[in-house]
Formats: sequence, C-alpha cells, structure tokens
Amino acid sequence: ICIFILTDTFNFNNILTIQQDISSFSYVHFAVENISIFDQNSSDHPNIIEGQGSIGIEIIEQVPAVDAIIVPCGGGSLLCGIAISIKHLKPDTEIYGVETDKNCSMVESLRKNERIKMNISSTIADEIAVPMVGVNTFYNIKGLVDKMIVVKEDWVARAIMHIVKEEKLVVEGAGSVTIAAIMAGLFPNLKGKKVVCVISGGNINTTILARALERGMAAEGRLVKFKVTVSDRPGANSQLLKLIANGGYNLVRQFRDNSWIEGDTYTIETKLVCETRNLKHALELKRIIERAYPGSVFETEPFNDKRTCPCYVKKLCS
Ligand SMILES: Cc1ncc(COP(=O)(O)O)c(C=O)c1O
Repeated sequence: ICIFILTDTFNFNNILTIQQDISSFSYVHFAVENISIFDQNSSDHPNIIEGQGSIGIEIIEQVPAVDAIIVPCGGGSLLCGIAISIKHLKPDTEIYGVETDKNCSMVESLRKNERIKMNISSTIADEIAVPMVGVNTFYNIKGLVDKMIVVKEDWVARAIMHIVKEEKLVVEGAGSVTIAAIMAGLFPNLKGKKVVCVISGGNINTTILARALERGMAAEGRLVKFKVTVSDRPGANSQLLKLIANGGYNLVRQFRDNSWIEGDTYTIETKLVCETRNLKHALELKRIIERAYPGSVFETEPFNDKRTCPCYVKKLCS
C-alpha cells in the first residue's frame, strides 16, 4: 500500500500513536475516513501499471504469435498494464484475468459496474486478495480485458503441485491461478491456441507449499484415503497391509478404531492413507480393497467431486 499524506495539514505520527495496534491497511482507512487524506492502492498507481505493461512487451517479443494471455488479478495493475500494452501492440490478442472464488473484487465490481468493497477471506492466493480494486485499473480493465474468470480455490493447490512437477518451479498461490483456471477446464475456447499464462510469484512458505502439494496429490489420486472394517483377530490387520504392499502401495497413515464402531465388537474400523503411482493405480487399489472388504468406504477425492468441478473425476478417469 502506498500512503499519500498531505503532511502540511496534519501530523501522521499522531495517527500512528492513536492506532498503534492496527495494520497498515487499517491506517489508510482510518486516515481516509477521519482526516481528509488521499490514499492510493499501489496497484492503481500509473507508474506501477506502466511497469507491469512491460511484461506485455516481453510477451510479444518472445511469443509474437500469441493468441491469448491469462493474468492473475488482485488490485488489477498487472492485468491492466499487460492489457494496455498488448491491446496496443497486438490488439487481436485475447486477454483474460483470473481471480479465485474466495476474493473476486474485480469480477464483482465489473458485474455491478462500480468499484465495490468486499470482505477478504483467508486464501492460498493471498497476494491477490484485495478488498477493493483501483480506479485506474477498474476502468481500463473494463474497456480492455476480454473476460474475467473465477477459479475455485481448490484448484490452486493442484496447480501449485502441477507446476512443481511439470515445470520444476515453486510458485505461490496468487502466481498459479492462471494454470489453475486452465486445469479446471475454464478455458475450453482456448484449445489449440497459443496461450501465455503469467505465473507471477514464488513467495510461498514451506508449510503452505507442503500442504498444497499434499492437497494436490490427494486430488489427483496419488494419495488415497479409505475406511475398512476388519476382524479383531490376530493377523487380520497384517493381511490387509499385505494386500496393500503387494499392490505396490505405500501406507502413509493408519488409524485403528475399536471404540466407536457400531455392532460387532470383534471388528475394528481402520482408516488408511496410501500413496499410489497415479489415478489408475488408485482406482486399482479401490477395486482390490472393495473386493476383499465389501463395505469399505472411499468417500474422498479422487472418487468423488464434492469439492471440485464435476468434470474433474470424469476427465481424470477418461
Ligand atoms: C504473486 C502475485 N501475483 C499477481 C499480483 C498482481 O496483483 P495486482 O492485480 O494487484 O497487480 C501480485 C501483486 O502483488 C502478486 O504478488
């Protein structure tokens, strides 16, 4: 946030003293609401937008035949700058902006045709989570960008994993929303076209990265969670584990529960998480376990699409 203060009319130090316990963002709002002060989101400064526009020039230099460019959108400067330079240099290039469903202030503003203020939810794409888009960015994007796309947050973790795996790049949530939107099947119109996805940052902490990778693995069937009821007699569990090992699966976690099961006290409910090689291997695991233990439950991804786009499982299985 850039804070522009009319230092002649008041002393900013007073504000700092009064509001010591609030964030810099709140400082700005406090100042704007209580004193006549001009505040400008850094995303909205013409110099910033101009700088971001140079990315558009680089894209045209490196991929002159580009058909479409997909750009993450927060306050909008990145998208706005690229849209301005691209529509000047190669106007027939399609420009798309991407936000997540957790924070889509640009999409909502465009829908209402005015800049609206939104509450920010915690998100893996935190760097593009802004409560209100800029004035300059809003009006330029409105006139230049072909379409704004909203991707479900869930796809972002998957995109982070995909980029690590395929491109050997560590990318933060905000930086990977463009790939996430493609993976989610939100750009069927771009099939066969030359598309540039802007991957805009790598500031992700190791905890979130690890979580995103696990999340991505679960979604792609590389991690499978299921529930089986086995007999409590000696050897029953090792039989189950042997079945898993013989299939080439790696047991990651097991939780054995004999306290909360209903009915037969000589059975144990056990929850397992296994690593598989791929979705095909995961489907095979489901078949093996269901054959040996009728009544076993595979209720999480990739075997249902509750948390994702319904086309996902279908797409993976086809
Ligand atoms: C990783 C990342 N991607 C994209 C953006 C684009 O944000 P904006 O739309 O505000 O220019 C930012 C801005 O900070 C960012 O940090």
